[in-house]
Amino acid sequence: MNSEISRLEFAKSLALEAGKLAQDMRPKASNGFIKSKGLQDFVTEADREVERLIRSRIAAQFPGDAFLGEEGGSQGDSTSLWVVDPIDGTANYMRGLPDWAVSIAYCENNVIQIGVICAPDMGNLAWAKLGDGAYVDDEPIHVSDCADPAMALIMLGRSSRRSVESYLNVVAAIFDAGMEYRRNGAATIGLLAVALGRAESYYEAHVNAWDALAGILLVSEAGGTSNHDGITAFLECGSKILVGNGHIDAQLQAIIDLS
Ligand code: IPD
Ligand code: CA
Ligand code: CA
Repeated sequence: MNSEISRLEFAKSLALEAGKLAQDMRPKASNGFIKSKGLQDFVTEADREVERLIRSRIAAQFPGDAFLGEEGGSQGDSTSLWVVDPIDGTANYMRGLPDWAVSIAYCENNVIQIGVICAPDMGNLAWAKLGDGAYVDDEPIHVSDCADPAMALIMLGRSSRRSVESYLNVVAAIFDAGMEYRRNGAATIGLLAVALGRAESYYEAHVNAWDALAGILLVSEAGGTSNHDGITAFLECGSKILVGNGHIDAQLQAIIDLS
């Protein structure tokens, strides 16, 4: 078996195991399970435990690989890099809302090779491998072919690292352009909606690498577009993200400041 295939199968089964651990921990939550990291920013014991699980499994299987996780930071120095959000959408997860996911990306020389998003409450395991397409539960997935702004649904994220005003301006511009929007509090789930063809685009003014990398590969392997040349900006300090089905890019770029 070639090593890339084995990394893919490894990542898929690890995402499923991690998602199950998060699900299992939630009903057992006791006092102190949820901690505040800032205004409306939370971390649960499950975020930390799931990241520990993923980090240790990767270290055991691929000891030479580097790792970057939201909760524990980076470890190792290698051109083979795993980027992990143990629970994306923690604020949904801890309330029992279904829109949250485990996100695992694997990169080589700063190119995303593998992206896996496991959304356990939605029953979805989505994955993509560079050049091999994107799949949910092993069925190929495709972005939508909607080219009509009047039919378009834009998934938005709101970063607390950017102004409320800039977010509200985008919402107003979306309505002015005749489009609709949703915000569901989990970048991975918004990106997955685009890859599945259920929404036409995802935009957020600032996301970190662990929020974005797996989903970016899913969207591009599902036939979509992205405003990024590479992942360096995400790894250095996070970045704006705009991905879409490719048919309403011009309309979106007219209303979203990508500078
Ligand atoms: C957050 C969610 C949210 C997005 C933020 C992320 P977390 O991740 O994806 O939807 O708007 O930018 O930080 O904190 O739930 O892992
Ligand atoms: Ca996240
Ligand atoms: Ca997280």
